[in-house]
Amino acid sequence: HTIYLKDYTPSPYRIVSVDLDFRILTENTRARAQLTVEPRDDTAPGTPLVLDGDGLVLGSIAIDGAPLVLSAYAANDDGLTVFEPPLRRFVLETEVTLQPETNTKLMGLYRSSGTWCTQCEPEGFRRITYYLDRPDNLAVFKVRMTAPLDVAPVLLANGNLVDKGDAGDGMHYAVWEDPFPKPAYLFALVAGDLGSITDSFITGSGRKVDLGIYCTHGKEDQCLWAMDSLKRSMAWDERRFGLEYDLDVFNIVAVSDFNFGAMENKGLNIFNDKLVFAKPDTATDGDYDGIERVIAHEYFHNWTGNRVTCRDWFQLCLKEGLTVYRDQEFTSDERSRAVKRISDVATLRRAQFPEDGGPLAHPPRPDQFREINNFYTTTVYEKGAEIVRMLATLLGEAGFRKGMDLYFERHDGEATTIEAFLAAFADANGVNLDQFKTWYLQAGTPKLTVNEHYDADRQTYTLKLTQETQPTPGQPNKQALVLPIKFGLLGPNGSPMGWSEVSGAEVRDDLIVLNSAMAEVTFTGIANRPVASLLRGFSAPVVLESQSSQQDQLFLARHDSDPFNRWQALQDVGMALAVAAVKGTPWSDASVTALSEALAETLGSETLDDAFKALALNIPDEQSIGREIATDIDPDKIHAVRGKLLHAVFEPLAMQLLATYNALASTTPYAPDALSTGRRSLRNRMLGLLLASEAAGADMLAAQQYGNATNMTDRMAALASSTYAGTPQVAGMLADFRTRFGGDPLVLDKWLAVTAAAPRDGVIEDMKAILADPSFPKTNPNRLRSLVGTFAMNNPTQFARADGAGFRFVAEFVTEVDKINPQVAARVLTGFRIWPMLDSTRRDAAKGALAALQATALSRNVADILTRMVGG
Ligand code: ARG
Ligand code: ZN
Repeated sequence: HTIYLKDYTPSPYRIVSVDLDFRILTENTRARAQLTVEPRDDTAPGTPLVLDGDGLVLGSIAIDGAPLVLSAYAANDDGLTVFEPPLRRFVLETEVTLQPETNTKLMGLYRSSGTWCTQCEPEGFRRITYYLDRPDNLAVFKVRMTAPLDVAPVLLANGNLVDKGDAGDGMHYAVWEDPFPKPAYLFALVAGDLGSITDSFITGSGRKVDLGIYCTHGKEDQCLWAMDSLKRSMAWDERRFGLEYDLDVFNIVAVSDFNFGAMENKGLNIFNDKLVFAKPDTATDGDYDGIERVIAHEYFHNWTGNRVTCRDWFQLCLKEGLTVYRDQEFTSDERSRAVKRISDVATLRRAQFPEDGGPLAHPPRPDQFREINNFYTTTVYEKGAEIVRMLATLLGEAGFRKGMDLYFERHDGEATTIEAFLAAFADANGVNLDQFKTWYLQAGTPKLTVNEHYDADRQTYTLKLTQETQPTPGQPNKQALVLPIKFGLLGPNGSPMGWSEVSGAEVRDDLIVLNSAMAEVTFTGIANRPVASLLRGFSAPVVLESQSSQQDQLFLARHDSDPFNRWQALQDVGMALAVAAVKGTPWSDASVTALSEALAETLGSETLDDAFKALALNIPDEQSIGREIATDIDPDKIHAVRGKLLHAVFEPLAMQLLATYNALASTTPYAPDALSTGRRSLRNRMLGLLLASEAAGADMLAAQQYGNATNMTDRMAALASSTYAGTPQVAGMLADFRTRFGGDPLVLDKWLAVTAAAPRDGVIEDMKAILADPSFPKTNPNRLRSLVGTFAMNNPTQFARADGAGFRFVAEFVTEVDKINPQVAARVLTGFRIWPMLDSTRRDAAKGALAALQATALSRNVADILTRMVGG
């Protein structure tokens, strides 16, 4: 059934403290909970205490030490009800026996490669014990764990270690106490035979924090980058936001079976090991980046998420959007702000825009859900971060900081809401954010249309701005949003142009604030027709539609002071050519030449950095082109047209591409810093472009790079671009890769992903063979996602095959995996969200596969996605 935000009510009872006692054995785990419960002041006598439980079997139950009679309570698969608890503080004691060994959903207590670990967000704690499993119940936790010393010498939980010792019979115990009241979703424990690296951090106020990263024995040397990232994150949060760490210990554990990236449990973050392990010959620059980003993200949650948490799960983006914004800022400060912004926007467009424009669209703060796990989405995370970024743009850095400070001052130790968050910013700055709040409530990507008019006689320049948001499922009518539009006017020589007056909307320096459906902004004292650079830095998450000519765009690509818009201008030119060609209007030689020249100039620039050039020297990917076309998409046609365009644009540059490729060769040892990463990404882009433009010998060059590479970044880049291009050497390279790294599961994932993304017939048969191999680990989320997740999201031509084979393959996979792990199944299924945009043959094929899936027994996770997908 559906849960609505409007139905939120506080619980009649509160659990104020929790004593947990786990007896961990190889055959099962016994969990005893002593919950100190209090009724609220206004709780009526006889109000039942209703605790959540998921699949638990009650062993014993007592209140204040006295066992309850059978008629005093009821326990079933969804929980436990005590009919008439005392109307005073009391201790409820329950005992259950858990089977972590067979917990393939990976929620609650489970076992990953022998290690016991937990995942509780959002509703996993109820799979461990009966509880008020809702984020507005904050309690202090004390956890005792007893386990066999040989299989589990390491025993970890939240907070500080207060006791440990021998428990006899080959068992030992540890007791952990977390002084900070927290919701149950932040609970964690780990027990296993793990190696570790340790370090320490001294906070600004002089507190020494012991840092530990735990992992499978033998991988310790692969945790150093994660540790380095952690220390830099801790320092950054003090510098930028004045936020210090608050416990004496901060531990991270890497596990190999994990449903998503990582989890911010208080003082004990648990990570998917792919976001911890890195060494140059097995991890790419992208992996190093991801580790730094997610280590920072989870650490930053200690304040935005843990110290101040969410009242209910509708408020998820309160912690996630804000924390993504914070991790983006961290990366921007540590590396290149422009490059970070461009890649974040590319991610937003690739992942969030299709969600927002498809059947699964929902507001960043949804007001209803059937399955909360399906709302850990790019809309909640990435669009949530864009909203916080707009707030920072509107208030300025100092105003934003004032708002953050007031937010913590008011809400530290609380579970709160988006309303309270916005009120802190409004009150700290004396502004009204009522209309701004609509961003959280409304789904869909607004379209911002700009028409310009220059009046030479009056020397005025007018921008007519219109915003419109299309209906989304359940939201037929849309409100006007507050759009912060950063901009600049460029004069004929490319330098900034001023104006004497401006009217028609709120304009401050470099910012237009559009808060109505339409506005005409007129600048006076404009001596020549300017070229407007609009939405600088992508200051609002909208689709910008302007009439600007190719000439104006290339002018901006050369002269704009905003690096984001220089990049954007080049992409826009490529996009226009590709879209027109797909729609039947071939490009002119002149327009392709103009783009080639601008790209050559960008590549040759002495001032632009390598990482930026690598992003700029490209044509929008197939999915972006598809989204721009939006209806009746034929992915094969897009693939073919894009290939021809790459060829036409980059073939004339072959000499320069090769020269750059050679000049960027390096013999210094691998380092993951921004400069070296940028150099590698540009060099590998050169290789990719040489392959795409079918330059003579490019396939050999790629095979050589593959064979001679001294790090995974270069090896993988050669393999991936050869696979995309389908060179004759690919089969040999893939076979080599498989044997060379066969023993390392994270490298196997790379092989699976590159295999699944190949745009060629036969890929489905190959994947079926891989899945049918008895040695393939059918329960590991990373393996499954690398293969089938990549296929559904990243192989547009084969997934959306006109004969429906791709759709059927994924639908059948979802049916199977749903029985093991519904979260993984539901996530892979979202790949179907593009179906309404496809041509009618493919649409019908997709609908057929979804209908067949609907006819089988499904988890709530998959059923929810499916209903929204076909019904919406
Ligand atoms: N809070 C975690 C993070 O953002 C992710 C938890 C994801 N949970 C889920 N059910 N998908 O870092
Ligand atoms: Zn998060």
